[in-house]
Amino acid sequence: MGKSASSLGRANGPAPVAPPPNAGARHTPLYDGNMPARAPAAPPRAALPLAGKTALVTGGAQRIGRAIALELAAAGADVAFTWLTSQAAAARTLREIEQRGARGLALRMDVTRLAQIRRVFARLTRAWGRLDVLVNNAGIYEASGFAQLPLADWRRMLEVNLTGPFLVSQAALPLLQRARPGRIIHLTSLGATQAFPHHAHYCAAKAGLDHLTRVMAKALAPGIQVNAVAPGMIAGDRAPAAWERKLARTTPMRRPGHAAEVARAVLFFAAGPEFITGQSLLVDGGLILA
Ligand SMILES: NC(=O)c1ccc[n+]([C@@H]2O[C@H](COP(=O)([O-])OP(=O)(O)OC[C@H]3O[C@@H](n4cnc5c(N)ncnc54)[C@H](OP(=O)(O)O)[C@@H]3O)[C@@H](O)[C@H]2O)c1
Repeated sequence: MGKSASSLGRANGPAPVAPPPNAGARHTPLYDGNMPARAPAAPPRAALPLAGKTALVTGGAQRIGRAIALELAAAGADVAFTWLTSQAAAARTLREIEQRGARGLALRMDVTRLAQIRRVFARLTRAWGRLDVLVNNAGIYEASGFAQLPLADWRRMLEVNLTGPFLVSQAALPLLQRARPGRIIHLTSLGATQAFPHHAHYCAAKAGLDHLTRVMAKALAPGIQVNAVAPGMIAGDRAPAAWERKLARTTPMRRPGHAAEVARAVLFFAAGPEFITGQSLLVDGGLILA
């Protein structure tokens, strides 16, 4: 015959705690015999997946880049990031990185200016002497009807969103080749494979970066893995709220994504299996299926 729960508790558990005077019927026991006495301690930094590693995130002051920088810092990496115009946001992100117990570096850099890129890598080499993960996140997003799209806008889009990651990746090679393994993660877009009629230059640049991911994966193997994360619609101030709501209705997951969800996909490529390269991971709530 089985014993009742209360008799088991009496026989094997700690002595029951007497309720304090004036305690009402809803008294919460101090210890119920099943729950740990206190929350488990956070793992030591040395046990985190990116412990001892360093990462560089371009355009990391705000929005998705900031979320990536914080995710990598929380996973144990020291995180450098670049900013172009968002100086105050960069200072905040730097503090947030350090609050996660990581070393941080905030450096100003235009991804279209080779001299600035070289200065950033010289600084990184002097400061930390290593780089394990490069995240090419910086980018621009503009709309224009195809017929009116100015050549200057087309050129600028390709320069920032495609030539920029190429230049930064090339400059990172000497450090990444010493890492075991080095990892490059490009931020592409659902627009790399889907045709957005008012974003011809954006889609073309992201499609170029998507294919560059595969070419670089082959060219840089086996020492460096190259993968891409392709966000769909991510909540933020980028799109008008009405447009966000409309797109959310056609997204199978019925909502926009969050920057932190993109950051977790980046972490997968930064700390995940070393046998994955040349892949693109959509973070779009299933929008491509709609
Ligand atoms: N948000 C989305 O829904 C979405 C969807 C698909 C793909 N993505 C991709 O995900 C990445 C991040 O998205 P996001 O919305 O967070 O981007 P964002 O805020 O539009 O831009 C990210 C950062 O890029 C930096 N940047 C712009 N031009 C630069 C240049 N010439 N040199 C260096 N940095 C430059 C800016 O830095 P400063 O602020 O310091 O000037 C900016 O903070 C981008 O590559 C984007 O294309 C985003």
